[in-house]
Amino acid sequence: MANIKPVIAGNWKMHKGPAEARTFIEQLTPLVPAMDDRHVWLFPPAISISAARAAAAARPDLRIGVQNIHWESAGAFTGETSAPMARSAGASHVLVGHSERRHVFGETDDQTGRKVTAGLASGLHVVLCVGETLDQRKAGELETVLARQVEAALVEVEPEAVSSLTIAYEPVWAIGTGVNATPKDAAGAHAWVRECLRRRFDGDAASRIPILYGGSVKPDNAGDLMAASDVNGVLVGGASLDPTSFSRIVAAAG
Ligand code: PGA
Repeated sequence: MANIKPVIAGNWKMHKGPAEARTFIEQLTPLVPAMDDRHVWLFPPAISISAARAAAAARPDLRIGVQNIHWESAGAFTGETSAPMARSAGASHVLVGHSERRHVFGETDDQTGRKVTAGLASGLHVVLCVGETLDQRKAGELETVLARQVEAALVEVEPEAVSSLTIAYEPVWAIGTGVNATPKDAAGAHAWVRECLRRRFDGDAASRIPILYGGSVKPDNAGDLMAASDVNGVLVGGASLDPTSFSRIVAAAG
């Protein structure tokens, strides 16, 4: 098994405009010193990326990402952000296929796949989010759903691109509910995602892709979740909005 550096990622969702993003970074940086043994990524709303990047100018180790992109580079797509635009605003990473994109905005597996391809083509590091709903889990469809989401999203990804790919396993029933998956549940799902990656890429490439857990991660459960087998970090929503709580989750890695 490859030695994968833990990733602690914060998904702010539709919270924090430019001024709040700046304040957050100013408060976070003294709490989270630059560390070689873990990665810290922040995903502000698109409109706050430039401000976040500028506020973290002295901290290139803190990576800034965009929460969603369109698959085209430019065009008549009112309200959308393209991968090259996100890059030029200072994003180095992108979340693709977050459950809110899939379930609130009706994003399809096919669209998710096109966004993965567009993100990689523009030089963004792609964090592909996958996860089952409670109904799917109860119906015993966990493996089928995850396999389908992984396969559809990575259909055009070349093995050489895997160094720019991370997967986030986020069970829909755990997102924003306060009910996290147990470390054992997470380990089981991550092992299956790893198996899906092995079927898609060769074993060596697949073993190097970080698989993050997301869904009600808090300072008090982050350490146990990150210690679970095949859990290479966390994608944090609500608890990433407060610098102290997020810094405690960063400290829980490793
Ligand atoms: P949560 O969100 O930590 O608030 O559950 C996680 C996510 O949606 O990425």
